[in-house]
Amino acid sequence: MDLPIIAILGAGSMGGAILSGLLSPSVQLAGPVRVTNRSASKASAISSSSVESLATELNPDANIQAVTSADIVILAVKPAMIPELLTEIASHLSPGTLVVSVAAGVTTSRMEQLLPETVSVFRAMPNTPAHIGKGVTGLSAGSRTSKTQLEQVQTLFETVGKVVVIPEEKIDALSTISGSGPAYVYYFIEQFTKAAIDLGFNESTALLLVSETFLGASELLAMSGQSPTELRRQVTSPKGTTEKAIEQFEAANLKAVFDKATAAALARAKELAAQV
Ligand SMILES: NC(=O)c1ccc[n+]([C@@H]2O[C@H](COP(=O)([O-])OP(=O)(O)OC[C@H]3O[C@@H](n4cnc5c(N)ncnc54)[C@H](OP(=O)(O)O)[C@@H]3O)[C@@H](O)[C@H]2O)c1
Repeated sequence: MDLPIIAILGAGSMGGAILSGLLSPSVQLAGPVRVTNRSASKASAISSSSVESLATELNPDANIQAVTSADIVILAVKPAMIPELLTEIASHLSPGTLVVSVAAGVTTSRMEQLLPETVSVFRAMPNTPAHIGKGVTGLSAGSRTSKTQLEQVQTLFETVGKVVVIPEEKIDALSTISGSGPAYVYYFIEQFTKAAIDLGFNESTALLLVSETFLGASELLAMSGQSPTELRRQVTSPKGTTEKAIEQFEAANLKAVFDKATAAALARAKELAAQV
């Protein structure tokens, strides 16, 4: 993969995950990735020959310096900070720069209002498995982007996993599935592990049994080409033990729990968006 000059403003959890994808050996970069944070300690920890790392604490113009003549600027600060950051960098972006925000709830039209017309805007919603190149990113284009620019941003996020291009009105819904999804999975693993402990396994064995079951089942799903329904059928002999367990999940109406959980997350996304 060939990518132009990239700046990441805010290299915390998500910005750091994207940075690790960009530094993988299969990616050819036109120059060092420019990265900013507030704290000097964080900045020095990620500095290397491939990363030009700046701290606003030491250099108040760090963000401006990072975006000057950059081709793609990724914004990975907290949502509430995006308007102020865009105002700070707006007049320093070259015409044709692509600005990509991973911030939840900040719309492309809000970003376009704060940036020159010559700058193209995208929203991306990655998830934390991006840290190991196994993320899923939802990607939406603003109103002044070309197909080539979209492909370039797609290529960038493919360095940390799969990319799904969607209309922006679906991005909050996607966030309730794959953005928040890793937290749901860890919650299931926690509860399932407690059940294993109650059946007499020690904590480490219980966690091993549960986490390897999640991992193995997910990899089998990905590699077999079979549907989850078919793979479940293969474990569920008629009148057997698994069938009895599945009957309990059915009785608890797990689908209704998913509906309620994703609806609650979606409502919160709308509340947060209204505050930016
Ligand atoms: N975490 C996720 O699962 C996830 C998923 C999808 C999208 N997102 C989005 O990603 C964004 C970042 O979330 P996060 O979880 O990565 O947060 P985080 O770990 O707190 O990272 C934010 C980073 O921004 C830096 N920063 C703050 N103000 C700055 C400024 N003015 N200039 C330069 N850097 C600045 C902070 O540096 P200091 O620590 O030095 O202050 C910190 O490293 C959010 O908008 C969130 O909605 C997160």
